[in-house]
Amino acid sequence: MKKLALIICLLTLNSQAQKFENLAKTPPLGWNSWNTFGTDINEELVKGIADKFVELGLKDAGYEYIVLDDGWMTKQRDKNGNLVPDPEKFPSGMKALADYIHSKGLKFGLYNCAGATTCAGYPGSRGHEYQDARAYASWDVDYLKYDWCDSGKINAESAYITMRDALKSAGRPVVFSICEWGDNEPWKWAKDIGHLWRVTGDIINCWDCEVGHGSWSSSGIWKIINMRKDIRKAAGPGGWNDYDMMEVGNGMTDAEDRSHFAMWSMLASPLIMGNDLRSAPKETIKTLSNKEVIAVNQDELGIQGFRFTNENNMEIWLKPLSNDAWAMTFINMSDQPVDFNFDWNKHNIGDDVNNLYVDMKKTRFKIRDLFNHKDLGTTAKNLKTTIQAHDVVMVRLEKI
Ligand code: GLA
Repeated sequence: MKKLALIICLLTLNSQAQKFENLAKTPPLGWNSWNTFGTDINEELVKGIADKFVELGLKDAGYEYIVLDDGWMTKQRDKNGNLVPDPEKFPSGMKALADYIHSKGLKFGLYNCAGATTCAGYPGSRGHEYQDARAYASWDVDYLKYDWCDSGKINAESAYITMRDALKSAGRPVVFSICEWGDNEPWKWAKDIGHLWRVTGDIINCWDCEVGHGSWSSSGIWKIINMRKDIRKAAGPGGWNDYDMMEVGNGMTDAEDRSHFAMWSMLASPLIMGNDLRSAPKETIKTLSNKEVIAVNQDELGIQGFRFTNENNMEIWLKPLSNDAWAMTFINMSDQPVDFNFDWNKHNIGDDVNNLYVDMKKTRFKIRDLFNHKDLGTTAKNLKTTIQAHDVVMVRLEKI
C-alpha cells in the first residue's frame, strides 16, 4: 500500500508542468518584426530576413530566432476557436514559413497575449491557451512572445503559468518570452515560468527620451537602462531580464547604436534585432555582428553586468566573465568628445553580489578593445583614448 502511495505521489510530482529546460542557457539572439514594421508584416518580409541572417553573417554570429510580433493573424478566430494566420499576409501558412526558416538552420517565433485581445486588437489567448499551444506545436513554432494587453484583473504569475503549462503539454520545446512590461515585478517570479521577461514598457529609437502615448509611454535607451534597480540577481542561465528588442539601425547615430549594443550585452539582455536587415547599412551590420561583443553577452557564467560609476558624464559598467575575465564599458554621455585617461591602479574592481574582488595594483590584466578588435597592452599603464560623443570603449580584461 505504502509503495503504491509513493508511486502515485511521484507520478503527480512528475506531471506538474515546468518550463522547458536548457533552451536559453545564454540570452536568446534573434530578430523581431515589431520595432520597424508594426503589424505591416508578411511572408516575403520574413523570408527576406531569414535570407539576410545567412548572407550577412548574422547566423554565423549566433543569431537564431526570427519572431513575428503582433498582426500575423486574422481579427477573428475561426468557428472552432482556432487562430487563423492572415491569408493575405501569409498565404502559405505558418507551417510553410516555419519550414523555410528551419531550412536555413534558424528558429521561428510567434507572438500572442495573455489577455482577451493583443495590443493591436487581434485575438488574445485568454481561455484558449491549450488550443493555441497545440496550434503552435503543429506549425513547429520554437519561441512564443506573450504580451499583457487587455488582461483586466487577472493575476500575472498565474496567467503566465497557464501558458507555460499549455506549451509544455503541447510537447514541442518553446522558448517562452514573458512580456508584462515589468508591471508585476517578474524578476521575482518568472524564472520557473519563462526564459526571458521584459522588465520595462516599450523601447523607442532615441538615446534618452520618453514619448507619451496617452495612458502609456515608450522610453529611449538610457531611460530603459535606468528604470530598474537591483534586478540583476534574477538573471542567469535559463532566465534573463529582457530590456526589449533593440533599436540598433533605427535612426540613432552609429556611436549611439554601438553604445546601445554594448549595454544590452553588458546587461545580459536577449539581443533581439529590430531593424530592417534587408536595407541595413554596413556600419549597422558591423555593430550587430560584432562577435567579440556578443561573446560578452553570451558568456557562460550568465552574470548580468552593473554600473561601476557614472561620474563626470562617463558611464562605466562591469560584467564578470568566465575564467576570471571582466568586460568593462566606458560610455561618453556628453555631447562633446572626451580625452579619457583611466588609471587602473586607482580603481579596484569587484562584484559584491558574486563576492568577486580584484586588487588592481596586484592583479594585472591584458586589455582587448572589442569594437576596434585590437590589443591595448595591460592594466599596468593608464588607458588613454578619445571617446566621441555618446560613443563607447568596451574592453575585455584577461588575467595575466
Ligand atoms: C506591446 C509590447 C510590444 C509589442 C506590441 C504589439 O506594446 O510591449 O513589444 O509586442 O505590444 O502590439
